[in-house]
Amino acid sequence: MWSMVVSVPLLPAVVMVLGRYRVEVAALSHRALAWALRLLRGAPCVRSAHAFVFSNCTHGKVDSVLETFDLYADTHPSLCISPQIAEALDAAVKRVRPSRVLELGMHCGYASVRLLRLLPPAGRLITVEMDPLAGELGEEVILVAGFKPSQFQVLPCSSAEAIPTLHPFLESDDGTGDGLDLVLMDHDPQQYLPDLLALEREELLSASGCSLLLIYRNQRAEDHREILDHIRGRPGSYCIGSELQFMLEISYRKEKHDGI
Ligand SMILES: C[S@@+](CC[C@H](N)C(=O)[O-])C[C@H]1O[C@@H](n2cnc3c(N)ncnc32)[C@H](O)[C@@H]1O
Repeated sequence: MWSMVVSVPLLPAVVMVLGRYRVEVAALSHRALAWALRLLRGAPCVRSAHAFVFSNCTHGKVDSVLETFDLYADTHPSLCISPQIAEALDAAVKRVRPSRVLELGMHCGYASVRLLRLLPPAGRLITVEMDPLAGELGEEVILVAGFKPSQFQVLPCSSAEAIPTLHPFLESDDGTGDGLDLVLMDHDPQQYLPDLLALEREELLSASGCSLLLIYRNQRAEDHREILDHIRGRPGSYCIGSELQFMLEISYRKEKHDGI
């Protein structure tokens, strides 16, 4: 009773504060809700995803590995790309037909397996994962799916550390090498622009054309803005292929007399 009497005069002040800071309050509530949902469903666990896939899939069968991952994601929290993103990713890879692919953020190897199954026999995937346990378990999943070590390379470090070391992985047997045909970024949206700049600086994007697929799981406009500003400022090198709610596809082509 007393608490009601004391709190009623405070109501206008509370309403004013809520009105003034409504964006911040909404963001805070969104985070609290996400946190509560995470508590209820449990945190995504790479060990549990790996154990489920390893013991339930048919070893050596790519489709079985992917289906078992999907089954896992139906009943457990999972960081793997959703079926909707997977479909868009497959469509982009089939269109681009890349030979040399870089994936940033491998996690448990689900998207790596999806990518590898669409590469030509001489194609190669380089995949980067900063969590050493995820890197180890993801690599095992790729092998379980039936791919050979000559078809892929797992780099267990951060994207910023990996990018300057990529040149030797892109060289052909004769010592020459064009750059990457496709880059999938699904690691940390804050890192997308710095990593793109590093890929440009190191001249790792194929001069004849490279597609960059950027995954956005939280659909926050500010995540896109910086990278879109960069791309729009370089119309000679970049164009936006498609801008889905969860995936941004950018095409890169080295501009003549680019100056980079
Ligand atoms: C959303 S998961 C990737 C899921 C994966 N693409 C799939 O669908 O199978 C993101 C992963 O990126 C890794 N990661 C985050 N920041 C990174 C960075 N800067 N460099 C490398 N890996 C990073 C995390 O450890 C995590 O395993």
